[in-house]
Amino acid sequence: MSGTGKSEGETSETGRTRAGTLRAEDVGKRVRLKGWIARRRDLGGLIFLNLRDRSGNAQVVIHPEDRPKVAGALDPVRLEWVVEVEGEVRRRGDDAVNPEMETGEVEVVADGGRILSRAEPLPLAIEGELDATEETRLRYRYLDLRRSTLQGNLRLRHEVTLEVRNYFDEQGFYEVETPILTRSTPEGARDYLVPSRIHPRSFYALPQSPQLFKQILMVSGVERYFQIARCFRDEDLRADRQPEFTQIDLELSFVEEDEVVELVEGLFERIFPPRGIPCRPPFRRIPYPEAMLRYGTDRPDLRFGLEIHDLSDLVEESEFRAFRGTVGEGGVVRGFAVPGAADASRSQAESWAELARHHGAQGVLTLKRRGGEAEFQVKNVLSSGELEGMTERLSLEEGGLALIVAAEEELAATTLGALRKRLARDFDLIPEDTHVFCWVTEFPLVAWDDEEDRWTSNHHPFTAPDPRDLELLEEDPGRVRSRAYDVVLDGVELGGGSIRIHERSLQERVFQVLGIDAEEARERFGFLLEALTYGAPPHGGIAFGLDRIVMLMAGASSIRDVIPFPKTTSATCLMTDAPAEVDPEQLEGLGIRFRSGE
Ligand code: AMO
Repeated sequence: MSGTGKSEGETSETGRTRAGTLRAEDVGKRVRLKGWIARRRDLGGLIFLNLRDRSGNAQVVIHPEDRPKVAGALDPVRLEWVVEVEGEVRRRGDDAVNPEMETGEVEVVADGGRILSRAEPLPLAIEGELDATEETRLRYRYLDLRRSTLQGNLRLRHEVTLEVRNYFDEQGFYEVETPILTRSTPEGARDYLVPSRIHPRSFYALPQSPQLFKQILMVSGVERYFQIARCFRDEDLRADRQPEFTQIDLELSFVEEDEVVELVEGLFERIFPPRGIPCRPPFRRIPYPEAMLRYGTDRPDLRFGLEIHDLSDLVEESEFRAFRGTVGEGGVVRGFAVPGAADASRSQAESWAELARHHGAQGVLTLKRRGGEAEFQVKNVLSSGELEGMTERLSLEEGGLALIVAAEEELAATTLGALRKRLARDFDLIPEDTHVFCWVTEFPLVAWDDEEDRWTSNHHPFTAPDPRDLELLEEDPGRVRSRAYDVVLDGVELGGGSIRIHERSLQERVFQVLGIDAEEARERFGFLLEALTYGAPPHGGIAFGLDRIVMLMAGASSIRDVIPFPKTTSATCLMTDAPAEVDPEQLEGLGIRFRSGE
């Protein structure tokens, strides 16, 4: 697969040949290679050098007795020195052919060469096994990036970005840049703030996303916008989160959900399959309540079964107090069955209970089926009818094990969702080379936030409510569905978007529900409210995490591996040492003074 326009072969301006492109057909050609010394071996007077450039590696041989001049010039070279070598391509002797190397049939017999740059002994190995800690790799990121895996990831990222641009261009989109120094764009994280020198006490916020600008661009008549957009969020970092990351961001006028969905599926169908992830639209669409019930998450991993079932109606009058009580108090009893897991060890069961407790549930109960009998963990509390009903509902087969949680609905769902994922891993139930995309739709517009004691947006405040639920907006906001959709691959949220509110009055009603009063709304979002009064077309869009997409394509376990200069989990850059203290004069100029002792 080659998306790069430039060939990795000869570059005309220097007459240089790329090391990794040499093949048997080149035998007899004179070449000039430039690159890094990946390996050096001295064998009975012969010097073997392995020379690496971006395209790959090639073997260079120096015969000292024939060419004292070359050997003399290159004799001091050590690992990672930068050299230029001239010579002739020769076929290797049969016993010297290296099938592991793409250039393994040939070598370059050097008859000229010079050193272009020297290198100190390196803190990490570029070739072979990774031998350095994450900290060393990030501190010497320029060396880490020389390794072929990361070079491959950079190239993959470049190719995907290029294809994304081409796709949207073909679909009539304009790529438009939006400001980095701007006002807060609420996406649920803290803002990174930049003090203004000219306006003391005022701050720009770095964008958490281009959300407001892209909506404004619809009012401007752009109709189809996209951007490969850098976003900034001050939030807790994880393997799939960075404080600055890149979105493929888009917005369209005059659309409904289906058009956005089809456009995205078309893009994915183009970019995923060539990178080993089959993609066959249309993707399944799962309403949020169903996702929470059956998979215990709004990011369902559909590569395996273990579907969750509600058992509440079967046990609401049970003798077993934990079940009857939970259902009586409005909670639920749910579970899922794992085929062939009846013989799980005590320590495994304890680790699942621990996970359940970590999520806030009391624990987890087990139901096994052995010798045709269903055995509940607590003896003699469930009637045979209850046992039978549960076994049937859970499709619990001979030799299988079911995990059951009794708790308040959301807690039961998320606990079982986490257990479902854990057991799929513990029992090796996730097939390799299987990938499943899906959409999650019909999210509730808002959720109650206990800490803030108010309703908060599930996506962002500009998401349109489902018109069917509009009359509930003020009296029962928790029941209002939104026009939002997320796209998920193998349990990873790739992107999210929605049809937006395009009428000022409705936007103001939603702000009210969110506890943003008219004055605050005018102060924070006045420009948007105003824009909505000057002919705003109906519009909607979506944004994907480019880093996450490339991570999945690369089979990497962290987005750090596909971001050239990532930050640590404590949001620092170990290479440049950012964030850093600044010159007191700079602070003075900004009118910033720290209180003493800070
Ligand atoms: P949302 O907040 O869901 O939507 O972000 C869209 C996608 O961006 C990626 N993402 C991240 N990737 C890496 N590090 C992070 N810290 C991070 N945060 C988010 C995820 C996510 O699905 N403006 C809306 C989109 C819209 O409504 O059109 C938005 O930003 O893959």
